[in-house]
Amino acid sequence: MSEKYTNDFRDKIDIHSNYDYSLLDWNESPSPSVPSVNDFISNRIKLLKLNLYPNVSKKGLVEKLQLFNETNKKILLYNGSDSFLKDLCMTFLSPGDTISVIGPTYTQIDPFISAMGSKKNLIVPDNIFEPKITEMSHKMTNSKVVYLSNPNNPTGVLYSNKDILKLASLFPETIFVVDEAYIEFSKNDSIIRENISDNIIVSRSFSKAFGFAGIRLGYIMTSDKCYYELEKINNPKSINTIAQEVGRFALSNINEVYGHVKEVVHNRDRLYNTLRDLGFDVYNSFGNFILLKIKNNIELVNYCESKGIILRDRSSFPKMEGFIRISIGSKSQIDDLVKILLEFQQ
Ligand SMILES: Cc1ncc(COP(=O)(O)O)c(C=O)c1O
Repeated sequence: MSEKYTNDFRDKIDIHSNYDYSLLDWNESPSPSVPSVNDFISNRIKLLKLNLYPNVSKKGLVEKLQLFNETNKKILLYNGSDSFLKDLCMTFLSPGDTISVIGPTYTQIDPFISAMGSKKNLIVPDNIFEPKITEMSHKMTNSKVVYLSNPNNPTGVLYSNKDILKLASLFPETIFVVDEAYIEFSKNDSIIRENISDNIIVSRSFSKAFGFAGIRLGYIMTSDKCYYELEKINNPKSINTIAQEVGRFALSNINEVYGHVKEVVHNRDRLYNTLRDLGFDVYNSFGNFILLKIKNNIELVNYCESKGIILRDRSSFPKMEGFIRISIGSKSQIDDLVKILLEFQQ
């Protein structure tokens, strides 16, 4: 089962009030990618007719997304890409079906697989930091769906688009979901830029590079065939008015988003290099996080929490004993973290 959020540290604080914690646990952005978003919303809200249902056609937003992604593939919007995972399972899985998941990876899909009475076939490479996904194709036979995250959370690895296309062509009857929640931080172009086959669905998020996790906006890009299947259960009213406004606003200010991504990547590499030079066992990623491997991982997570820095222990994931995931915060949050880690080591 996926982890429940209810026991999380965040239940203890009101994240919208002033607090002294550095939240480096959920791979959010330390700030919105377009800092003027709050001013934009406060001005715009005076004009919005919140008594009316949201714009159901969402045409303007979809067209902006097609332009941004340089694609004419079909697009469906969701309340965060997580809610696409639910529709995916409801649409393509039946009781007894198998879905292969290339892991260790994001587990939010797990409850939806269980709810459909389907089976999860977790495929874990021998070396989780050098996964050879095409060599694992024999483990994907009889799968209705294959799910992978590219770049992968939490290992941070990047699969080649060529390999994914190869797998999708080997199994034309299987739906391949490529979760690109972190793609903007990586050196890869989205697989949507390739000539993708009809059985590929690319999912994207406004929560990471855009820094708008709070508005809950995600989308998928896919063939007409998959689109029409998913559309059957898509509620056109489900993207709220404010999320649509912010989505369009962000895409109209895309250069600021790119600048923000550049800064996060710079801070990520700086944190990785600093900790490596200090002798820590660290793993860089193609996302907005790094991994730290340490013997007394739980002790370290608790120590950091007592100092106001919240990290994510990932040691329960397969082949990830001793691993802690650190989301990339602001420059000052990173500097504080380095100090605390050094203190802990002494
Ligand atoms: C791989 C992956 N996909 C999707 C999400 C969630 O995206 P959203 O906020 O759009 O639901 C996460 C969040 O951590 C993630 O790690």
